[in-house]
Amino acid sequence: MSAGYTPVQWNRHKRVYDAVVAAAAVGYIGVFIGVSKGLWAGARAFSDEVLVIRALGSCAIVLLHIVLCIGPLARIDRRFLPLLYNRRHLGVITFLVALGHGVMALGYYHGFGVVNPLVSFLTSNTSYGSLSAFPFQSLGAGALVVLFLMAATSHDFWLRNLSARVWKRLHMMVYVAYALVVGHVALGALQSDRGVLGTGAMFVGVVTVCSLHMAAGGRDVRRDAAAGTKGQGDGEWIDVGAPAEIPDDRARTVCTVGGERIAVFRHGGSVSAVADVCKHQGGPLGEGKIVGGCITCPWHGWQYRPGDGCSPPPFKEKIATYQVRIVAGRVQVNARALPEGTPTEPARIPEPSHD
Ligand code: HEM
Ligand code: FES
Repeated sequence: MSAGYTPVQWNRHKRVYDAVVAAAAVGYIGVFIGVSKGLWAGARAFSDEVLVIRALGSCAIVLLHIVLCIGPLARIDRRFLPLLYNRRHLGVITFLVALGHGVMALGYYHGFGVVNPLVSFLTSNTSYGSLSAFPFQSLGAGALVVLFLMAATSHDFWLRNLSARVWKRLHMMVYVAYALVVGHVALGALQSDRGVLGTGAMFVGVVTVCSLHMAAGGRDVRRDAAAGTKGQGDGEWIDVGAPAEIPDDRARTVCTVGGERIAVFRHGGSVSAVADVCKHQGGPLGEGKIVGGCITCPWHGWQYRPGDGCSPPPFKEKIATYQVRIVAGRVQVNARALPEGTPTEPARIPEPSHD
């Protein structure tokens, strides 16, 4: 939904979300520093600068894990959908916290010599062939560059200008950033006094992220199998079920032989069908509902009219529509997609007879 450019389209929901995340991050950093001071006191105490660097670094990695887990969690359980709504803000906050960590580390570990901190950073350790002395900070810097690119292009303005495909590919690089951060922490821990703690926490994080992605992938495969083409008896028409089986203002999703998913919506005594994939970031429209007469994407609320797949003015997005019909009390949808934005006649659900 991109009628014009404004830096951030704030609303109350986004403000509350950001305030909660910022308060949680500040709280985490405070608790981290407090607990660390308690654990490492006296001769073993770390300087305040080191504690802040560590607090910011670990806060950034916790936030990165949350960013990565929200997607699969929302696919597994709809109750996590509200978190997805503002995931991009969470990503930007993650970058800012990581930036604070990186800048402080650069200043503290490279800023006190006669050499420029950046030159010192690039030249002080070049043991790329050694595992135990690897320049782990360069991996953190690589991750920071990727997080910056993602934060800088997070607005829908860039989604529109880069095209959805390029934008999506760019933002899939979050996994590259994650891999770099895992390397940064694991190899850094080898050179620190807290190797077991850091490596253990990192291991739990990686296992959690991988398991959730595998669980969500398995759930999608099962859903597609359940929505698989049924009753191909009449050529290209797919059986969706009885009209009563589709909840009002909601959809039932079916899948074509070619693997395209179709969302078949019931609304106001009629049935219409559109592509299941949202134009924004590919959200599952069939899991959304009809609000104010428009199909509303469950991820970030983009809307499309069920009759022609067009977003309501002033927006200009369009999705494919499909022909629907009701035969012998069964809803059927034609597997051939019509061009995006093509008006289609909704199938009217017959009134129950009172004989
Ligand atoms: C220019 C970029 C970066 C530099 C120069 C850098 C530097 C460092 C340094 C020197 C340490 C060791 C601190 C110590 O043990 O005293 C460290 C640890 C760490 N860094 Fe980075 N880092 C960068 C980017 C990142 C990014 C992007 C993340 C995460 C998103 C990150 C997460 C961490 C974590 C979790 C630790 C371990 C903290 C702990 O021991 O509690 N770093 N980093
Ligand atoms: S994916 Fe963002 S609104 Fe649909």
